[in-house]
Amino acid sequence: MPEITAVRGFKDILPDQAQLWCLAEDKARDLARRFGYSELRVPLLERTELFARGIGEATDIVEKEMYTFEDRSGDKITLRPEATAGMARAVLENNLAQTGSPVRLFCLGPMFRYERPQKGRQRQFHQLDVEVFGDEGPFIDAEVIALLCTFLTELELPEVRVELNSLGCGQCRPAFREKLTSFLTSRRSDLCPDCQRRLLLNPLRVLDCKTETCQAVALNGPDMAGNLCPDCRAHLASVTASLENLNIPYRINKRLVRGLDYYTRTAFEVHSGRLGAQNAVAGGGRYDGLCRQLGGPDLPGIGFAVGLERLILIMNQTRALKPHIPDYYVAVLSPEALGPGLALAHKLRLKGLTVSADWTAGGLKSRLKRADRLGAKKVIMLGTDELAQNMATVRNMETKEQHTMSLTDHSAY
Ligand code: HAM
Repeated sequence: MPEITAVRGFKDILPDQAQLWCLAEDKARDLARRFGYSELRVPLLERTELFARGIGEATDIVEKEMYTFEDRSGDKITLRPEATAGMARAVLENNLAQTGSPVRLFCLGPMFRYERPQKGRQRQFHQLDVEVFGDEGPFIDAEVIALLCTFLTELELPEVRVELNSLGCGQCRPAFREKLTSFLTSRRSDLCPDCQRRLLLNPLRVLDCKTETCQAVALNGPDMAGNLCPDCRAHLASVTASLENLNIPYRINKRLVRGLDYYTRTAFEVHSGRLGAQNAVAGGGRYDGLCRQLGGPDLPGIGFAVGLERLILIMNQTRALKPHIPDYYVAVLSPEALGPGLALAHKLRLKGLTVSADWTAGGLKSRLKRADRLGAKKVIMLGTDELAQNMATVRNMETKEQHTMSLTDHSAY
């Protein structure tokens, strides 16, 4: 153990795991291309104000989870807790939506939230973010959910469920909020201390509180889906019809509210039976007021984020890791052979072959053991005798057959 260890909630992604990360990231890029989404890389640091305004002052994220500090010039900045607000800022600042056509974007990278670390919850975690700006219709909602489901299906994720709800709009939500607040106030004493506090600031959050007593209260209270205005109701009906048309299974969850304030209308999460308490692999929804909230024009938006740590946790349960099998392992058996061995390995690598080697001291037995552990198909042995003849001895690790090959003519390797 070194004297200085990693910061709590910040994890190394070790080489054996990196393979699964590449698989997920490659799949994300492949689908982005097939669905017509371009990459937007936004900074890890933004002005604190962006998240306070975008995500909402009364959310857990902004209230207690942000890594916020003053930089050397006294500006208040925050490590991004999510990517949507930053992407909206970048779209507005760089006029990406000026063409009038919807802008389809994705972003991959780390996010930071000061939460209590546990399985599936870290302080630095990674997301695949997909966002579309400039389309308010329900078909794009279905496209975005279809992209998410295709991503999870093609990565062969088992036991995933799409949960869907509508959170209404500026027309219907205020009335619902009032109705809900007055209902919850009448049951105030049955709510947990957190929800008693939330009641005034963010009553919708009570609906998805995990406490049993709060759930029991919420079950008997009004729900957003039953209080939608005709436009929101039609929007939701069109999204569900499209999902059915695309054969995407979903479940309406009237208690789904999401933890960020910018959502309007469609909200969704994907849960997995393979995770523990933190069972949301992905979450997203529509945020038609966000760009306006940030001082921009009325630019509607919809998107989602997949939590890559949670995705990888499941992939670890269902996928066997395939080690990279070297075509050759170069076993240098005498100090004079080090230079020629390195030169041969380099030539073969330039040819596109996978070559492992060690340039430290070691005898034949330990070299063969190492080649075996790496799963190398063939071992190139290079000692004083071989050097004298400008040859190498090549051993097929499966058949154990050996033959000599030229050190300077690499065409037969
Ligand atoms: P979110 O629900 O806060 O939404 O996060 C999305 C996903 O990120 C979660 O479902 C989870 O898989 C993962 N996640 C969140 N916090 C952690 C954590 N501390 N450790 C590990 N994984 C975590 C958003 O972030 C929205 N920006 C999504 C969105 C995009 N909505 C519209 N567009």
